[in-house]
Amino acid sequence: MSELVDAAALERSGYVHIPFCHRRCPYCDFAVVDLENDEGPIQRYVAAVVAEIQMEEPWDQLHSVNFGGGTPSVLDSKQIDAILRALRNRFGIAPGAEVSLEANPEDITRDYAGALRDVGVNRVSLGVQSFDDDVLRSLGRSHTAAQASKAVANAHTAGIETVSLDLILGTPGETLQSWRETVATALELRTEHLSAYALTVELGTELSRRVHDGAAGPDDDDQADKYEMLAELAAPRLHHYEVSNWAAQGQECRYNQTTWAQGEYLAFGLGAHGHRNRTRRRNTRRLDAYLDQVESGTRPEIGSECLNDWERERERVFLGLRRRSGVVAGQAGAVLMASVAGRRFAEAGVVTLVGDRLIVNKPLLTDAVAREVLGLESP
Ligand SMILES: C[S@@+](CC[C@H](N)C(=O)[O-])C[C@H]1O[C@@H](n2cnc3c(N)ncnc32)[C@H](O)[C@@H]1O
Ligand code: SF4
Repeated sequence: MSELVDAAALERSGYVHIPFCHRRCPYCDFAVVDLENDEGPIQRYVAAVVAEIQMEEPWDQLHSVNFGGGTPSVLDSKQIDAILRALRNRFGIAPGAEVSLEANPEDITRDYAGALRDVGVNRVSLGVQSFDDDVLRSLGRSHTAAQASKAVANAHTAGIETVSLDLILGTPGETLQSWRETVATALELRTEHLSAYALTVELGTELSRRVHDGAAGPDDDDQADKYEMLAELAAPRLHHYEVSNWAAQGQECRYNQTTWAQGEYLAFGLGAHGHRNRTRRRNTRRLDAYLDQVESGTRPEIGSECLNDWERERERVFLGLRRRSGVVAGQAGAVLMASVAGRRFAEAGVVTLVGDRLIVNKPLLTDAVAREVLGLESP
């Protein structure tokens, strides 16, 4: 298992950011453009992404492609096809590659799911968040639990190989019973993959303003209880392969596995981050600047960073720690285990060395360990 996980570092991936959403959810701080019923910029944006792909130097064939958002399912299948064709022409897409698309449940009709499959999408990740309509309302989502179940059925019937659900745990007002039922429903729908994130109050969002004005925010203990409940309920059917991700055997997300293994991936679109030739680069988050620059033949990049050897080593452990099978400890792992914080983590059973691998045994403390790793000084 750990060999497969490490081999993901050698795979090539492509990320395409589709920033449009029907409306912005109050908790979300991703690079999003609120459509407010104006579909105007979409076709122009698709043309710009195609042009940006053509600006990238040729590369190896891609083993996975991920359309992330925003809401990629606001594009029609012809627009997805145009982007996939551009990637195929420029780099090639390997036979059997994972082609994944994030979707909002209300968009996944039987016809649309079939059209996506026909243009080569074989994995759909649905932003379900909860199967409780009260929780969905307090998250400001525009779909219902019934629509989410229908979307899963539509994707399966259309022949999409992998259906993944995104869930949010610990929304204020969500009871333990509501969360138990959400998880039970997700498992009953026989989805192949689950991602679950604790609701986070991101600065600058509508949610952060409400919490600042006195509304209830998420509670750490409640979120920890719900995380443990999910891990227990999912265990008989899905294996826990990363802090926030569960999959049926062989259904792990290849694109994410590449990023956690410090592999390289190209990124196109608004605010997208790529990693190629050991350099990390990021695009502008302003739509007008993105469109103007690409249309005038300039790359829409606002920054890049080439890490030195020690920074790369630290980053390798920082990223790899998120996986339940851990990461080869290497130099950064050795420095961590010799540090005061590392010894404390080891004594408390939070991290262990198993052979040459560093493993976090308490997934909820992964961020605390990762923060220490990022602060390690070169030996
Ligand atoms: C950025 S969205 C894109 C996909 C799609 N538009 C959707 O809403 O599902 C990807 C996932 O990020 C998660 N997410 C976004 N903001 C979050 C927050 N503040 N706290 C926890 N999860 C969040 C949600 O689970 C969401 O499904
Ligand atoms: S959570 Fe998804 S649908 Fe909501 S604003 Fe963010 S990207 Fe858009």
